[in-house]
This record gives sequence, C-alpha cells and structure tokens, in this order.
Amino acid sequence: MKEPQSGRRPLIAANWKMHLLRQDASGFCRTLRSLLPSSPNVELVIFPGFTLLPTVAQELVGSTVAWGGQDLHQEAKGAHTGDVSGEQLADIGCSWVLCGHSERRQNHRESDRLVGEKALSARRHGLQPLLCVGETSEERQSGRTFEVLDRQLEAALAHRPQPFVLAYEPVWAIGTGETATPALAQKAHEHLRMRLGETLGKAWADEVRILYGGSVKPGNAAELGAEKDIDGFLVGGASLDPASFSGIISNSGFG
Ligand code: PGA
Repeated sequence: MKEPQSGRRPLIAANWKMHLLRQDASGFCRTLRSLLPSSPNVELVIFPGFTLLPTVAQELVGSTVAWGGQDLHQEAKGAHTGDVSGEQLADIGCSWVLCGHSERRQNHRESDRLVGEKALSARRHGLQPLLCVGETSEERQSGRTFEVLDRQLEAALAHRPQPFVLAYEPVWAIGTGETATPALAQKAHEHLRMRLGETLGKAWADEVRILYGGSVKPGNAAELGAEKDIDGFLVGGASLDPASFSGIISNSGFG
C-alpha cells in the first residue's frame, strides 16, 4: 500500500459525462455500496448528469460516497437558460463540482478566465471545485505542455477558490485508451505542485490533492497510483460499471 503523502487523503471520482439513465444510476449506486468496505481509505465522489442527481443523492445519502455536478454557471442565479447554479447543486446535496473539464473547454468554448469564475462561484456555494487542466496532443508535441498547464492553473486560481482539488487530464488520453505513462503523469503532477507552491506557498501546495485522469482502468490504476504526486483519479469510461470502478479503487494501492 502506498504511504499517504503529507495529509493528502486519496480521492477517486467517477465522471459519468452524458451517460446512464435513472435506473442504471440507481443500480450502480446499490452495487457500488455493496462492493465497498464500510470505511474505505479513499474518498469517493460521483459526478452524474444533472437529471440523475436526485437518484444518486437518494441512493448515496448516509454512505461514504459523495456526489457533485459536472458543471455550474458562474453566477448565482438569473436568466441563463439551460444552465445550473452552484446554489441549485448545493440544494440537491452536492458537495463537489467539476470546473474546466476539457470537454467543456472544447465543446462550449470555456475560457481559462471563465473556469476561474466558476471555481469562485463553487466556493461561494460551499462546493469544492475539482479543477481540470491538461494539454492537447498538439500542445504536447510542440513542447508547450507546461506553458499550457501554467496558464490554466493561474486562471483557475485567480480568485483563490480554496479548498480545491486539481485534476491533470491530458486531453489526448481522455476516452482514447491511450493512458499517460506513470512517469509522464508524475512529471506533470510534480510541475503543477511546484507551481502551486509558488502561488500558494509550499506548505499549502503539499496538501493539495492532484488527481490523474485519462483512460484510467483497473489494469493501470496500480502503476499510476504508485507515483508520488498522484493522489487519486478522475475516471470517465471505466466509471460506468460498478465492478470496474471498484476494481480501480481496490487496485489503486491507496488502501
Ligand atoms: P476517460 O475520461 O477515463 O474515459 O478517459 C476521463 C475524464 O474525462 O474525466
């Protein structure tokens, strides 16, 4: 088992994206609860689609598993058809929200600055932002990975939305089956922690959890989880099935 780094409790999160219906969500939660130990050493969060939140909330209340929204609007309320506010997420018992997932950045043209505003709004409503950063394949190939990560990180932290959790998700590894090698992921995590140290101070940066996301599966969780600065995972495809999600939890080496 990996020794806990500093005070960082490992965290594994499921990002269901635009998948599953209420019945599937309900079955998933029941099966997952039956597969988990009564007090897992890993913090667990499910990010279902908005329509599934009431079902997930009902199934997970009283369990060790939390839930959150996949996005929020940066404003508290208003004329924003189709959007969901942090207040509405908190109202359904969410304690978390994803901010700046690469699919939001790409499909909805979310800017770095907007992601920072969303993270601030999350904190205002008592939600913990899970801030996603990551480079595209083109950015990596042209040697700009760290430059992109620095830019995204700086904007996401512009309003100091503490506490928060960071997820490093190289865009080229999301949903592609092409996982970053543990060494490559560790290098990016180390870089992000170093930058966090410069912005927030080393003591604080040592406490920030940095998750890896991008084609995490039961088969690669152990080697990724063994890296010093990888404090958990944000899992997409492999989180849709309770057996594979719990396989990631048990293989992760996080205890
Ligand atoms: P993936 O997705 O595990 O299917 O690659 C990860 C994510 O987008 O958060």
